[in-house]
Amino acid sequence: MSRRTTLTQYLIEQQREHSNIPGDLRLLIEVVARACKAIAHHVSKGALGDVLGSAGSENVQGEVQKKLDVLSNEILLEANEWGGNLAAMASEELEQIHPIPNRYPKGEYLLLFDPLDGSSNIDVNVSIGTIFSVLRCPDGENPTEQSFLQPGTQQVAAGYAVYGPQTVLVLTTGNGVQSFTLDREVGSWVLTTRNMMIPEDTREYAINASNARHWYPPVTRYVGELLDGKEGPRGADFNMRWTASMVADVNRILIRGGIFLYPADMRDRSRPGRLRLLYEANPMAFIVEQAGGAATTGKTRILDVQPQHLHERVAVFLGSKNEVERVTAYHAQAEE
Ligand code: F6P
Ligand code: MN
Repeated sequence: MSRRTTLTQYLIEQQREHSNIPGDLRLLIEVVARACKAIAHHVSKGALGDVLGSAGSENVQGEVQKKLDVLSNEILLEANEWGGNLAAMASEELEQIHPIPNRYPKGEYLLLFDPLDGSSNIDVNVSIGTIFSVLRCPDGENPTEQSFLQPGTQQVAAGYAVYGPQTVLVLTTGNGVQSFTLDREVGSWVLTTRNMMIPEDTREYAINASNARHWYPPVTRYVGELLDGKEGPRGADFNMRWTASMVADVNRILIRGGIFLYPADMRDRSRPGRLRLLYEANPMAFIVEQAGGAATTGKTRILDVQPQHLHERVAVFLGSKNEVERVTAYHAQAEE
């Protein structure tokens, strides 16, 4: 049997060979991965674990919380509180940041997460996931919301777990993107794909087309050309896939290419998109760029955006480089 590399072994090898993962960051990533394992366990229980349905509350974004949103958030908070590697956490489910309580030692990192991405898919047994991002804390042991407002280029690690037919953890620490599959019997994450690379070209796109009538002209132009297929200006047919779980759509794009679009639209011109910059767009943009893809807001590179608020939203175009560059160029042309 060929030797299997676990997440722990991979991280220690990186630490030794490339010195790009300090010991405390390694431990932090392992704790997050362990929390994802616990979330995967609850997800897989479904109705048997009484984890389906609404929690009867709303989060800061005004979205109805599902039981699994709340549970996943609690699992991540509890797992990461006491390890001594963090100064504070921030979550899609919490209005304010969560500083590490004084009874625990504090560390130099900040952890941000979307505990359960794609929650509308929980009850219908379609892939969902967890997204996370790690920053350094610039303010020692006294983090504030301001400490989190760093552009995505400052991330030291990012990843996501997909709870689907297989449970996978996709991770970057700035040295390529690796995918680990959960071996449930053994209880460990096994490295199953090294150095994931997104093909530069694709014939597949992902967008919620029910919003088409609200799109701005560059998006209408881009998607219109895809829909025109062989007979249109692109001279090729394009296929559409929309899972309504960003983790699942991004995971597909990492494996076989594609472009994911969640644009801002004309319904509310003051709302710059749907996805949240700090714990959805930034970690995914870091991963996608590390895999040779591109990620923009239509106007600028996502990772260069200077955040103003913890829960701010942003338009997202990410995936196969040549398609992301094309739709970004259409936005620039529309401004001319
Ligand atoms: O977290 C937001 C999210 O659920 C993403 O996972 C997903 O890509 C998107 O929203 C789904 O949006 P819609 O409800 O428009 O299909
Ligand atoms: Mn989400």
